[in-house]
Amino acid sequence: MQIKVGFIGGGNMAAGLIGGLVPGNIASKDVIVSEPNVERRAVLAEQFGVEITTDNNLVCQISDVVVLAVKPQIMAEVAQQLELDESTPLFISIAAGISISKLQNWLGSAAAYPIVRVMPNTPALVGCGASGLFAGPGVNQQQKEIAQTLVDSVGISFWVDSETNLDLVTALSGSGPAYFLLFIKALVDRATQAGLSAKVAEALAMQTAIGAATLAKTSDDDLTTLIQNVTSPGGTTEKALEVLNNKDVSAIIAEAFDAAQQRSEEMAVEFGSSFDNDK
Ligand SMILES: NC(=O)c1ccc[n+]([C@@H]2O[C@H](COP(=O)([O-])OP(=O)(O)OC[C@H]3O[C@@H](n4cnc5c(N)ncnc54)[C@H](OP(=O)(O)O)[C@@H]3O)[C@@H](O)[C@H]2O)c1
Repeated sequence: MQIKVGFIGGGNMAAGLIGGLVPGNIASKDVIVSEPNVERRAVLAEQFGVEITTDNNLVCQISDVVVLAVKPQIMAEVAQQLELDESTPLFISIAAGISISKLQNWLGSAAAYPIVRVMPNTPALVGCGASGLFAGPGVNQQQKEIAQTLVDSVGISFWVDSETNLDLVTALSGSGPAYFLLFIKALVDRATQAGLSAKVAEALAMQTAIGAATLAKTSDDDLTTLIQNVTSPGGTTEKALEVLNNKDVSAIIAEAFDAAQQRSEEMAVEFGSSFDNDK
């Protein structure tokens, strides 16, 4: 891409995105990161060779795209302090729970700034991310393509057609890594209690998770059929699934999903109202 990409906030998610972008999709000289933490700045410069600064306004002045990658709790303060002119960049916000209309208010202008909201997840840090994107008013096709290229450099992504659907993405893939990790951990814990070494149990459990997902991704069969394929009548899997189904694990997972979705909706209200000091 022949564009300049700026990051406001150079923490974990920003580093993951930069790692996906540089050098394959974009030259390191075309990336600038604003970050207050001196050690973090040194790491980013050393690791990626990108330009670093502490000046958020400089990032906005010289970038075509600005990724807002600070914590949601400080987004209002950061956005309100930006001094934007008419050459507004495309903003991409990865902050959980901050609506586009709130950001517009904090950025301050009669005209709508082009803003794309992204809900990434932590596997983006290892190039295996799954993200949802939503385009605010005034985002054109070319800007959508830029946003998608950026996000796809660390995994896969899908556009959602309403902003509230980002709450569903949050409950599915945003929080999802923790659900799968919990499942893996429970298996590893039990296998080690039962006598396998932790090293072997972890390797087998993780490879099984990767293998199951890869099988599901590449197979023509649907998930129910794939489950049936592992389940011989009278066999071990059948016994294990009986235990899981008797406890109604599917209902528990549905409840967990709903709780995450609800929390995502609540956070939008909390982060929106507690800093509601429009520019
Ligand atoms: N981690 C996830 O799973 C995940 C998933 C989806 C979305 N997100 C979103 O991604 C965003 C970043 O999360 P993260 O995990 O990368 O957080 P993080 O590691 O804390 O990164 C945020 C960075 O912003 C810096 N910062 C603080 N104040 C700043 C300012 N005024 N100007 C510029 N930079 C400033 C912080 O520096 P200091 O450390 O010195 O304060 C920190 O390095 C959040 O909004 C979060 O909601 C995260």
